[in-house]
Amino acid sequence: MLTIIIISILLSIFITILFKFITADGDFTLLSKRVKRDKFEDKVVWITGASRGIGEILSKQLASLGAKLIISARSEAELERVKKQLAGKYAPQQVMVLPLDLASGEDALKEAVQEAESFFDGAGVDYMIHNAAYERPKSSAVDVSEESLKAAFEVNVLGPICLTRLLVPFMLDRGRGHFVVMSSAAGKTPAPGQAVYSATKYALNGYFHTLRSEFCRKGINVTIVCPGPIKTSSASATSNSQEKELAEKRVSSQRCAELTIIAASHGLKEVWISYQPVLAVMYLLQYMPSIGFWLMDKIGARRVEAATQKGNTYSLSLLFGNKRA
Ligand SMILES: NC(=O)c1ccc[n+]([C@@H]2O[C@H](COP(=O)([O-])OP(=O)(O)OC[C@H]3O[C@@H](n4cnc5c(N)ncnc54)[C@H](OP(=O)(O)O)[C@@H]3O)[C@@H](O)[C@H]2O)c1
Repeated sequence: MLTIIIISILLSIFITILFKFITADGDFTLLSKRVKRDKFEDKVVWITGASRGIGEILSKQLASLGAKLIISARSEAELERVKKQLAGKYAPQQVMVLPLDLASGEDALKEAVQEAESFFDGAGVDYMIHNAAYERPKSSAVDVSEESLKAAFEVNVLGPICLTRLLVPFMLDRGRGHFVVMSSAAGKTPAPGQAVYSATKYALNGYFHTLRSEFCRKGINVTIVCPGPIKTSSASATSNSQEKELAEKRVSSQRCAELTIIAASHGLKEVWISYQPVLAVMYLLQYMPSIGFWLMDKIGARRVEAATQKGNTYSLSLLFGNKRA
């Protein structure tokens, strides 16, 4: 038994080092590609969660690639602020601001879909980027209020699925449509301290991989993006200390958006974007789940504790019992 544990630890260290050198910030397939501009130029792209963070940067990059953008979030004022900053073939003038609340129910989302389909002389939505999300500060899996549980599932799962159900018939009529789903590393691995968020992202992965399997032969494409920690304006604003920010090595939101666009332009089915050690943990859980789950069980309680003490929740030292990390 001891031998197996030692071999497993050596193997994980080897894999971590290997991927540290081989992959910079994305998985193998993703890093081998470059963006195909023609996949977005003149295409209608609808982005939720475009008022800040990754969604704002995605909007900037897609506008510069010549996409016809529809930007959504709840805050119209923030969307207008983002719109003013966009530049490209159709931006800022022709960028459509479509405020929506993903938790507002099917009738309201139906109206939003009809509006989105009518923009740009009824061209219809080519890409739907499900990027908006609801995330609470990290806490234990049992320390979640019913209100927060419902909000997380409404915004992260039910809203995007409802929009998708309503959009697919239009896309099928045109014989094409592409869903880009901003999931998370927490949708691929246990995420101690983020149980509900993780549950919503696993749910998204399940729904959208299945959707693709049912409709890919009718022109419906799905790209699921699973980022690890990303540095966004909101992440910086809520960061507890400069020290923590430095310790938690985060991929920039610019790079995350760039890799997401590359993934979508190549029709990749699922991509992972992260620095180590998160990327290595994702590989471990995918290809050596017994070791991966053993590892997660080892760090789970310590990570929740590190989160409550505002420490680094991505540190390898969680494995060795340094609670404050
Ligand atoms: N940042 C990371 O480290 C990280 C890592 C892995 C995955 N991700 C995923 O990447 C995506 C973007 O993350 P982020 O960090 O950029 O997010 P963020 O900065 O928190 O922004 C969230 C966006 O969602 C919108 N939103 C929130 N509730 C909404 C609702 N009820 N209806 C409609 N829109 C709503 C927000 O705008 P309003 O408040 O105006 O509605 C905002 O534009 C998310 O899906 C997240 O789970 C992020």
